[in-house]
Amino acid sequence: MADAKNSFYLTTPIYYVNDAPHIGHAYTTVAADMLTRWHRQRQEDVWFLTGTDEHGQKVMRTAESNGVTPQQWADKLVDEAWVPVLNTLNAKNDDFIRTTQPRHESAVQEFISKLHDQGDIYAGSYEGPYCVGCEEYKQAGELLDGTGEHEGQKVCPIHGYPVEMLSEQNYFFAMSKYQDRLLAFYEEHPEFIQPASARNEVLGFVKQGLQDLSISRNTFDWGIPLPWDSEHVLYVWFDALLNYMTALQKNVDGEDTPELFEKYWPASVHLVGKDILRFHAVIWPAMLMAADLPLPKTIFAHGWLLVGGEKMSKTKLTGIAPSQIIDVFGSDAFRYYFMRAIQFGQDGSFSWEDMAAQYNAALANGWGNLASRLAAMVGKYFGGALPQAGEFTDADQHIADVAAKAVADAEAAIDAISPNHAIDAVWTLVDALNLYITEQEPWKVAKDESLAGQGGRLATILVTAAEGLRALAVLLNPVMPIAAGKLWDSLGAEDYLGALDAQPVATAGEFGQLKPGTTVTKGEALFPRLEDTSN
Ligand code: MSP
Repeated sequence: MADAKNSFYLTTPIYYVNDAPHIGHAYTTVAADMLTRWHRQRQEDVWFLTGTDEHGQKVMRTAESNGVTPQQWADKLVDEAWVPVLNTLNAKNDDFIRTTQPRHESAVQEFISKLHDQGDIYAGSYEGPYCVGCEEYKQAGELLDGTGEHEGQKVCPIHGYPVEMLSEQNYFFAMSKYQDRLLAFYEEHPEFIQPASARNEVLGFVKQGLQDLSISRNTFDWGIPLPWDSEHVLYVWFDALLNYMTALQKNVDGEDTPELFEKYWPASVHLVGKDILRFHAVIWPAMLMAADLPLPKTIFAHGWLLVGGEKMSKTKLTGIAPSQIIDVFGSDAFRYYFMRAIQFGQDGSFSWEDMAAQYNAALANGWGNLASRLAAMVGKYFGGALPQAGEFTDADQHIADVAAKAVADAEAAIDAISPNHAIDAVWTLVDALNLYITEQEPWKVAKDESLAGQGGRLATILVTAAEGLRALAVLLNPVMPIAAGKLWDSLGAEDYLGALDAQPVATAGEFGQLKPGTTVTKGEALFPRLEDTSN
């Protein structure tokens, strides 16, 4: 929910540039885009941040194996993959932060100097197993025994790759001293970590006892140098987490932006995958406590897209590029599918068959067909001008009631960060309208001249359906902006109701907004039928 400032600041994790995006990454970005578009249509002051995580050993090694510098590699991946994918997904972010930007590096150095000066950082040494995939020291107990080519080695439970034993001089962040404050904070703010399963995991972890955190590396140099000891670079996670703050402190041109910080800090929601929950729910708030800064409202951990029961990943060669699916189904259907088919917070999987079945049933035959039938009937029976409705019957009132409830339920689901339930709620209106048209049989009513004129039964049915479709355009715009925009054009409401993006969700369910006489046009199909590629 927005705060007293009516602002809503949402972030995605910043993505590692070691490889190009797959649909697992796209999943987080699409959820972020849907939520922020919804909040914008609540007339809130929204800021949506995404970006890339460019330092650390993982990116450095990928660059080395490709024979270029890490900066060259990062530039290439950002330009060719990570920025373009936002367009492919139709995501409307407000800012894009790269951890190699000077605005980030200087603000990070300021932050860690403060912690150092106040005695929260000390020198020590560390020895232990490190997973470069996770960019994290692991506890011996978390590791699995390798099989096959990794037989006899200990592997990371997430990446399935052998960990490396590291022994280094490091600087440490005195995180353990924040343990009690963290536990008290979790207690006072049950909404801080969501969903409940994620919260329980973190509580259990912190209650076992927190260790201090090694926050520097001195065996390679691809990172932000520590201001007091340039032999060390900052640990990549400490560097990365700060992006959420540094992006509000300066713009890409390096100009101070105190007004952004004032308006949007602290974040309303950090969306993260469950694999990176602890960094966000333990390390990040401890860092902010140390700096005496307000903590984010909510860290929401979503599940993984699985392939063969395992997290989809490029390392395991199971990654599917978003464009592979979007080239066939379009970005709207992609967004709809992933936001509706998977309960947000749980794991899910993708299959071409299921995607095609949902496309046909819900989009082409469900919503799309409804829209084209209505436009065709207004064209056929009223020359394309929305008629004047007559008295509402119970059946018409029922549609208005379904619309009002859909709005209320979807709003509650968005507050609960449950995009799939929000879409389920809106879809009650799609289903109710399709049933309504079937039961009201306007094509039969049209045959009776006494019912077919202005203010008659036929007009009332078509206006009721048109009002329902208007509500759908508004409510589905955050999920499927292209189709919703086409429907908005077809209903001809822009002239007097204004742009679709500016339509408030709160009043979407109120009927009587469309003006009689409005030109309704039958444009191209919202969801064209798929070409049969089976032969
Ligand atoms: N760079 C860190 C995040 C730093 S945030 C301060 C990172 N990057 S990542 O590129 O590996 O992952 C970014 C996000 O993509 C994470 O939220 C991760 O959970 C998500 N996903 C990566 N693979 C995924 C799936 N197969 N399924 C769903 N989400 C997945 O971690």
